[in-house]
Amino acid sequence: MKFFIDTANLDQIKEAQALGVLDGVTTNPSLMAKEGIKGEKAVLNHYKAICEIVDGDVSAEVIATDFEGMVKEGEALAELHPQIVVKIPMIKDGIKALKHFSDKGIKTNCTLVFSAGQALLAAKAGATYVSPFIGRLDDISTDGLQLIEQIRLIYDNYAFETQILAASVRHTMHVVECASIGADVMTGPLSSITGLLKHPLTDNGLAQFLADHAKSNA
Ligand code: G3P
Repeated sequence: MKFFIDTANLDQIKEAQALGVLDGVTTNPSLMAKEGIKGEKAVLNHYKAICEIVDGDVSAEVIATDFEGMVKEGEALAELHPQIVVKIPMIKDGIKALKHFSDKGIKTNCTLVFSAGQALLAAKAGATYVSPFIGRLDDISTDGLQLIEQIRLIYDNYAFETQILAASVRHTMHVVECASIGADVMTGPLSSITGLLKHPLTDNGLAQFLADHAKSNA
């Protein structure tokens, strides 16, 4: 399973990269705004800076919602750096744009996916990644993980190569459950990755090992 971090914060990206388990980064316009990145030049420079920190794929989202606009923006993003993946919303013109980029060999991430039907369409259009937002589904009392399971089944039935990128991951159990049901990738906050480290028995056990070592070497 690939681990992506869902942030535009360079310090957090560096911290995740330094752990040695990071496979990529996802961003979105809200995450860019949160870091105070505005204006086309600043946005492009920020994506470049992210690509220089990580080795893997970096999703950069288009703002346009019409086909021509998405193609223009997406091509400019893809030219920025070979690690850029063009993030396209799940709308009608988005499907056309996914097909366009897929035909050109440009990687894509279809975002804002909330149903199996949408995921099927994204795969048909040749998306590299599909991003079902599991946390936002859980927020409205539906089961985000069930959607991942359904998409896994559909993609396996037809050997679709589109990778399931579980997005809107909020906590460590989302990560563990996504791994159990076969999501290809998860993207979440740094805490969803570092939280996997935690177990009180590990802490207690290590304290005991160190205390015993210190006693016998005193
Ligand atoms: O990048 C898209 C997605 O991961 C957003 O997550 O927590 O805003 O629902 P969240």
